[in-house]
Amino acid sequence: MSDMPQTEQTSEVPRHVAIIMDGNGRWASARGLPRLEGHRRGVEALRRTVRAAGDLGIGYLTIYSFSSENWSRPQAEITDLMGLLRRFIRNDLADLHKSGVRVRVIGERDGLAPDIARLLTEAEELTAGNTGLTLIVAFNYGSRQEIARATRRLLDEVTAGRIDPAQIAPETIGRFLDAPDVPDPDLIVRTSGEQRLSNFLMWQAAYSELVFMPVFWPDFDRAALEQAIAEYHRRERRFGGLVARTGS
Ligand code: FPP
Repeated sequence: MSDMPQTEQTSEVPRHVAIIMDGNGRWASARGLPRLEGHRRGVEALRRTVRAAGDLGIGYLTIYSFSSENWSRPQAEITDLMGLLRRFIRNDLADLHKSGVRVRVIGERDGLAPDIARLLTEAEELTAGNTGLTLIVAFNYGSRQEIARATRRLLDEVTAGRIDPAQIAPETIGRFLDAPDVPDPDLIVRTSGEQRLSNFLMWQAAYSELVFMPVFWPDFDRAALEQAIAEYHRRERRFGGLVARTGS
């Protein structure tokens, strides 16, 4: 028997942080501004957060930037959000690349405007060899849709006779998700005070710590991220067992 302590170091940064960036609209209306201004300021908060995550040594940062359900918003707002994504990739990709950030995208690509689909692929290809922070952009993403995609891919393998249905385990399903090699999020943060997952990483969130913060996303900054991580460190993670574990 090892005489190592049975709990891991609690000061480790979470390896994977995922964020539901909520409250842009409420931030704007509280100031009598158009919702687009809230989203614009949301992009600035995103820049700050990516920098802070890299500085803190977080390995993976997943951001919920456009959900499968966001298509039900007014067309003008959808156009604004698509415009912000285009501008974010065009303006920030070179800097992200220079900082060693690897960009990955999860979500449904089919049906996106061709130039957006191209920009997403370009961001992934340009940064594929980077070894710093992995920024996972959940775009046109919904967890149920991702699980349906995984099921279709898995069934193709079953039909081709490469997978025996009797052998399907949770890990088998995990291999067909959009980013199968990425570790599950240790910490999921949602801003704006809402307390739900809204179809975000539901499979991967099985053992994630959930932290809900009253701050609207445009006001999020490094201090807020550190506060979320401090809360994560106060949690005991048992993964269904009896012994507490923290970190990865
Ligand atoms: C939630 O605020 C935010 C979104 C639906 C989109 C998140 C988008 C950004 C932070 C900017 C875009 C960034 C990229 C990379 C495209 P909400 O509009 O639901 O706010 P509300 O709940 O207060 O109305």
